[in-house]
Amino acid sequence: MDLKNSFDYCKTISYICSFIKTNNMRPIIIAIDGFSSCGKSTFAKSIAQKLGYAYIDTGAMYRAVTLFSLKNGLIHNGIINIQALQSHLDGIQISFSRNHDTGENEIFLNGICVEREIRTIAVSEMVSEIAAIKEVRQKLVSMQQAMGKNKAIVMDGRDIGTNVFPDADIKIFMTATPEIRTQRRYDELIQKGIPASLDEIFQNLTKRDHIDQTREESPLRKVPDAIVLDNSNMTPDEQMIWFENLIIKNSTSSFS
Ligand code: DC
Repeated sequence: MDLKNSFDYCKTISYICSFIKTNNMRPIIIAIDGFSSCGKSTFAKSIAQKLGYAYIDTGAMYRAVTLFSLKNGLIHNGIINIQALQSHLDGIQISFSRNHDTGENEIFLNGICVEREIRTIAVSEMVSEIAAIKEVRQKLVSMQQAMGKNKAIVMDGRDIGTNVFPDADIKIFMTATPEIRTQRRYDELIQKGIPASLDEIFQNLTKRDHIDQTREESPLRKVPDAIVLDNSNMTPDEQMIWFENLIIKNSTSSFS
């Protein structure tokens, strides 16, 4: 990031924060849906951090259930034992806790931090199929709704604006080209020291897009009141400027 952009970015963020304070904006729910690896988490995290809101990565919750299933022998050769998983659901506890060293929210599965384990390719390969199971969705959706009952939350996923919070104050639908998303996921894994191949990631992403959009239970779709953010050619700073304009435009009419 060059100095000028960094300066503009800081100005933008402090402008959003002071705008919200001086306008006494009531706590709101921001729902962000979209395709895999299009930068939803980075965008949602930045917004939440600057607004002092909670941030929930719901994809991580589906990944945690997938990890549980893999570890407990509920998946054999890519086939999920749905009945066995259903009977284990009550025993799956998921929570988020802030890591004070990194400042990041981390996910815990039955009391153990699994933030890193849920990002492996083994989990990515099975997660869309786990997320298509009705009983899994019912359990996680009700947890997500409880997390948002006091508002002041930014939540990202596939069905936040359609199913979890259909009355969310702001709905954003994020997208980017599959090639750019593949490169982003690759960079993210390599940065975390997780081995990755571009080809494998591309196949996995396009397969997951298909399952997420065509499943029976809460498929990924853009609702008419969601605003599209195609960030294929946008930097994180440009996305925050886009968000600033959105907040200012809406706050005069809806949030005060
Ligand atoms: O955002 P992600 O790639 O970590 O999500 C993992 C999977 O979970 C993805 O294939 C779709 C699914 N998912 C979902 O069905 N509903 C959500 N609210 C979030 C994720």
